[in-house]
Amino acid sequence: MKKKTVSVLLSVFMAATLLAGCGKATSEEAATEEAATEETETEEPAAEEEAASDDLIVVGYAQVGAESDWRTANTESFKSTFTEENGYKLIFDDAQQKQENQIKAIRSFIQQEVDYIVVAPVVETGWETVLQEAKEAGIPVILSDRQMDVSDDSLYTCWVGGNFIKEGQDAAAWLKNYLEEQGRADDEINIVTLQGTIGASAQVGRTEGFGSSMEDNWNMLDMQTGEFTQSKGQEVMESFLKQYDDIDVVVAENDNMAFGAIDAIKAAGKTCGPDGDIIIISFDAVKAAFESMIAGDMNVSVECNPLHGPRVAEIIQTLEAGGTVDKIMYVDEEVFPAETAADVIGTRAY
Ligand code: AHR
Repeated sequence: MKKKTVSVLLSVFMAATLLAGCGKATSEEAATEEAATEETETEEPAAEEEAASDDLIVVGYAQVGAESDWRTANTESFKSTFTEENGYKLIFDDAQQKQENQIKAIRSFIQQEVDYIVVAPVVETGWETVLQEAKEAGIPVILSDRQMDVSDDSLYTCWVGGNFIKEGQDAAAWLKNYLEEQGRADDEINIVTLQGTIGASAQVGRTEGFGSSMEDNWNMLDMQTGEFTQSKGQEVMESFLKQYDDIDVVVAENDNMAFGAIDAIKAAGKTCGPDGDIIIISFDAVKAAFESMIAGDMNVSVECNPLHGPRVAEIIQTLEAGGTVDKIMYVDEEVFPAETAADVIGTRAY
């Protein structure tokens, strides 16, 4: 029961007692009164809490979904950063990989008059209208992880995330170097790509970065989306294996699709990894990718760092202090080949 309601009930009770001329309450009435008073008292801290919660910075986070280990680590990074102890109230929304859900979430954040909206956009396009609504409501929008492709970049305050094009280029550079070391630099190399969600900047950038760095003797046999999930990655790889019997390299645009591909390859009686038939190149570098490299299944994982919670908090603190932030902020990322996995795994935070 709310404090106000309890106080009203208590006043009515006391007034009724006085009007009835009962100077002394019976023990039952006294007990009831005491209980009501106690209830009022226990409500006091709630009022303080309410006042305290007025001081919190309210942040609405429109998250993509829970499609991968990377995404789980990203969600955890936000939830552990935007806590009440740190001065925030986080309103978290999981869009289940659907843009329309994210648009709904942003509209609900606007209605709730949050202080900041953070979005990890599922895809790059189609955001102008809802961003305009946030702008009209005077709520700053911070993009994290994936980017938006909007004609007017004043619709968002800034973006922080990984350089997806560079990640794709780094993957191709690793392959070129690896094939040289293997004495296969001049061989015809057949590649298939498991793409992420089509239109997501992690997909667009990685596909573009790798594609633009292809050597003349590399053939891209096929590219299909595995939606960044392990199950879809496995399904697409199964169909690639039925269609092509000469695959040399799988480029999986995230670790979870790579895990699915590895399962499909093994189920088809083939081998992969440094000592296998098929080279596996992946992105994210989550802990399970290091385990896969140590197990001899994966060749390399190009890092994509998901720990954006503290980065976004720093941006918000700068804005709260009246400062300015860079429009585009790239995070440093590394390439982890299988031979480094055993040494590095212990240092990984996700
Ligand atoms: O946008 C980052 C990508 O999204 C990660 O590579 C992937 O695992 C996630 O789903």
